[in-house]
Amino acid sequence: MGVSDRLVAGLAALEREDLRRTRRVLDSPQGRHVRLGGREVLNFASNDYLGLANHPLLREAMRASLDTYGAGAGASPLVTGHLRIHEEAEARFAAFCGLPRALLFGSGYAANIGILGALAGPEGEIFGDRLNHACLHDGARLSRARYTRYPHLDLVALERELARSEAALRVVATDVVFSMDGDVAPVGELLALCERHDAWLVLDDAHGIGVLGHQGRGALARFGVASPRIVYMATLGKALGGYGAFACGSSEVVDWLVQKSRTYIYSTALPPMMAAAVLAALEILEGEDSPVDRLHGRIAEFRAACAAARVAVVESATAIQPVIVGDAARTLEMSARLLDRGLLVPAIRPPTVPEATSRLRISLSAAHERGDVEHLALALAECLAP
Ligand SMILES: Cc1ncc(COP(=O)(O)O)c(C=O)c1O
Repeated sequence: MGVSDRLVAGLAALEREDLRRTRRVLDSPQGRHVRLGGREVLNFASNDYLGLANHPLLREAMRASLDTYGAGAGASPLVTGHLRIHEEAEARFAAFCGLPRALLFGSGYAANIGILGALAGPEGEIFGDRLNHACLHDGARLSRARYTRYPHLDLVALERELARSEAALRVVATDVVFSMDGDVAPVGELLALCERHDAWLVLDDAHGIGVLGHQGRGALARFGVASPRIVYMATLGKALGGYGAFACGSSEVVDWLVQKSRTYIYSTALPPMMAAAVLAALEILEGEDSPVDRLHGRIAEFRAACAAARVAVVESATAIQPVIVGDAARTLEMSARLLDRGLLVPAIRPPTVPEATSRLRISLSAAHERGDVEHLALALAECLAP
């Protein structure tokens, strides 16, 4: 079999199992509606939880930054790519989430790989929730530390593993809001465990920043925790409407990441306009007309409408509201039926989620209106009826 025959056979196998992935092409920016296949559909399929991805204030800030700093950063941060606006964004974000310092990475994926690789090496052990995002998983594997996965949110199992570990250094790494389930890790209890067993706690708040806590300040505000052993990661490509990520922590942690984090050191700094975008996003979050409150209003309305229509949605107080279907083919069919009704809801299948738990991953946004989420609840009830 030639090299490309293997790929053809592999693709055919994915097709047979209803697991072949394809991309949709949108002809519009993200928003309440998007343009798909020549028509407008209601969008429940993006992580733009606050409706900031096409917000006029972010666009304006990015345009102004283009005029001042140009398009590209031109170099990695340690050479000459760290511009004044990156520095400003780091200081502003650190103050926003209540930690001493923040460091701007190219993406959340890069940040998690960089954080875990810098904290742990072959002498360390990393403990990760089984449902963690792929990049925490990959970061743990790439770090060359021993890697132990514990059952989802099972703190008893985690404590057992921490107690038996003889590693010179321990790191617990977890999503705060699990990206395909919308449930939230018990951050206070995790921190207490890490204190008892002298471990670092790496928190991936990709889906919590902008959503949890007062003004969307994220997990640390939501749980009222602070500790020098926390390394906090928040992405900019979801509720904050832009692209990139921050790793935050004590001054020593951030300085260590600057020295040791390979995805920080060996990668071009983020385009300066992305730093401008996050500055504008924080301004909006701290402003009077809070999109965070609007989002939580939509979440409550959607859940009430689903309860009334007898649609079983996974327990979740976040923007991610999954409906488990189980079978991959049936989930695709449900998603197609919803699209026929003008509702864009993605079908999520293995390996992104465990076998037999394919689901509709509904994402709510502050850009939605009450009628949108009620309409979706009724359409779900119709489509899911046997
Ligand atoms: C929990 C979680 N962490 C990290 C990432 C990666 O962030 P980014 O898209 O900025 O690479 C994602 C999603 O993409 C995510 O869902």
